[in-house]
Amino acid sequence: ASALDVDISKIPLGSEIRVLIGGKPFFVRHRTPAEIAMAESVNVASLRDPQTDDERLHPMQNGELNRAILITSGSCTHLGCVPVGPAQGNTGDFGGWYCPCHGSHYDTSGRIRKGPAPRNLPVPNYRYVSDTVVNIS
Ligand code: FES
Repeated sequence: ASALDVDISKIPLGSEIRVLIGGKPFFVRHRTPAEIAMAESVNVASLRDPQTDDERLHPMQNGELNRAILITSGSCTHLGCVPVGPAQGNTGDFGGWYCPCHGSHYDTSGRIRKGPAPRNLPVPNYRYVSDTVVNIS
């Protein structure tokens, strides 16, 4: 197993960084207030893979959630392509990510909303080692 410390203070608002851990891609996204509001306003019961936005966030050391930072796997749950996102200028129909391989759309919480992917982008193991550094493994 491998792990990586990521400085989240360097991620521009509304964009993301992409990291490789053990050869696998992960997204670390700095969400805007509008993107957070979109993620929280979804009717969870209507989702293919029902999860609240809060369930997809891990607490900081003070026990509170940092809703601005979303960390997910970067592998589409359909057949494993790497979706495009804000840095590529295409966030799909729901503002999150779009997988161009077969047209899966993920929302601003990384939840599957449209297309063939069966599940949300998984949230990896991660923990805050300070207010600005997360350790992802
Ligand atoms: Fe992403 Fe098929 S691998 S839609």
